[in-house]
Amino acid sequence: MPSHAGTPLIEARGLTRVYHRPRSSLTKPGAAVEALREVSLTVGRGERYGIVGESGSGKSTLLRLLCGLDRPTSGSIRFDGREITGLPERRLRFLRENLQIVFQDPMSSLDPRMRVRDLVAEPLVALGLPVGGRVAELLEAVGLPAEAAERYPHQFSGGQRQRIAIARALAPRPKVLVADEPVSALDVSVRGQILNLLADLVDELGLTLVFVSHDLSVVRHVCETVAVMSAGEIVETGPVDDVWAAPAHPYTRALLAAVPTLEGLL
Ligand SMILES: Nc1ncnc2c1ncn2[C@@H]1O[C@H](COP(=O)(O)OP(=O)(O)OP(=O)(O)O)[C@@H](O)[C@H]1O
Ligand SMILES: [Mg+2]
Repeated sequence: MPSHAGTPLIEARGLTRVYHRPRSSLTKPGAAVEALREVSLTVGRGERYGIVGESGSGKSTLLRLLCGLDRPTSGSIRFDGREITGLPERRLRFLRENLQIVFQDPMSSLDPRMRVRDLVAEPLVALGLPVGGRVAELLEAVGLPAEAAERYPHQFSGGQRQRIAIARALAPRPKVLVADEPVSALDVSVRGQILNLLADLVDELGLTLVFVSHDLSVVRHVCETVAVMSAGEIVETGPVDDVWAAPAHPYTRALLAAVPTLEGLL
């Protein structure tokens, strides 16, 4: 696909997403929840963009919209200069090829009945791309032995499973890697390793990263830019070191006062 070097890679404008809770009575409609309210953001090519906020602030909702997995109630999203809002799935192929996701829990994101070989090759097969020697190459890139290809997810530790999920996400050579709390479900002792692996791969492959966490110290470790979310809105955004050193919004200060859990582990 021709890329439009002058335009930002991801440009979201005025994203609002309203969910309707199931109705609790026959006569009253279900309550509306505004999970996102007028959120705008711009992610440049090669930028490492972090989104931080407490539970329920709308981080995953925003990611789902950016990945074309859900539609906004209003607002627009451009990926590489192309509007994706409202496009049917069959016209989102360019997005599926160029943007891949790593989820929080590799145990539920990896099908337990599939061998690692097939799990890693699956995105290529789904897109009709050649598999060739790509699985071996990817396992090596994420620090797993070649024999891992013949095994099943349950035969690995949590950290190794997340390595498999990263290999799988990188398979179609995406431009953008999106990660939603990729280390939160892992044992504290392996979080640093997986974050360093992600950061190294993003660097080596020149990827754009959109990274969600509830922990600003984690975002600071892998991102250069941060957007702070609270109650469905971005309340502060800027270079992560600036926000870390001098948070402007009271909510960011409160987030920072919560123990920086990764300090000393990385
Ligand atoms: N499918 C849904 N139906 C109804 N409400 C939803 C749905 N998904 C999310 N919400 C609501 O939208 C708000 C934002 O949720 P979201 O999952 O985006 O938060 P989050 O920041 O990712 O939280 P967490 O850190 O716990 O993952 C919450 O109030 C949540 O209850
Ligand atoms: Mg979430």
